[in-house]
Amino acid sequence: MTNQNPFALFEQWFEKAKNVEEIKYADAFNLATVSENGQPSNRTLLLKSWDETGFVFYTNLASRKGQEISLNNKVSMCFYWGPLDLQVRIEGTCQQVDDAQADAYFDSRPLASRVGAWASKQSQPLKSHAHLLKRVAKEGLKFPLGKMKRPDFWSGFKLTPHRIEFMQMKDYRLHERREFARMDDGVGWVEGFLYP
Ligand SMILES: Cc1cc2nc3c(=O)[nH]c(=O)nc-3n(C[C@H](O)[C@H](O)[C@H](O)COP(=O)(O)O)c2cc1C
Repeated sequence: MTNQNPFALFEQWFEKAKNVEEIKYADAFNLATVSENGQPSNRTLLLKSWDETGFVFYTNLASRKGQEISLNNKVSMCFYWGPLDLQVRIEGTCQQVDDAQADAYFDSRPLASRVGAWASKQSQPLKSHAHLLKRVAKEGLKFPLGKMKRPDFWSGFKLTPHRIEFMQMKDYRLHERREFARMDDGVGWVEGFLYP
């Protein structure tokens, strides 16, 4: 049992990473999902919001990751902030965010990104890059300016964590690994250290 809150530590490290010039995307993390037959796959995504209830990202629901999450909502995230020698691993389960939250985020995106979301059949085979640009032009013409709604196939997921591990790299690979595991009551956290 611990009084320490993993979210306070996450905030501390994330804020530090955001202030390092060499880190172009402090909000980038690696998301691992698992297919129906147990094949894991991972890719980089951007963290768009977070609080003590979870970590939110957005994507195409019909993409490979979207389909895998719909079959198995257990996922893990991994942040690596190289210039700071820090890694954070977060494991948990995903739920789709509600429509109001997805709409609000979609509406906040630049127009070109919104058009891109409509145009991209994410993860499906594509004849050529030119074909994608043609679809972007076509989709862009479909909506009067400023009236572009969020596609039904595009939304966000919130990962509710049950394990968060912070690793500070140290000399000679004697890294410091600090693990927080959610207690059975779903509220408190147990804290401990792990061999590197
Ligand atoms: C820095 C970076 C940020 C990215 N952010 C996102 C994102 O927030 N959402 C997304 O769907 N794809 C994002 N991508 C693309 C994904 O890595 C991936 O190529 C795409 O989502 C398709 O993955 P899937 O076929 O496994 O579903 C990003 C890629 C990079 C390199």
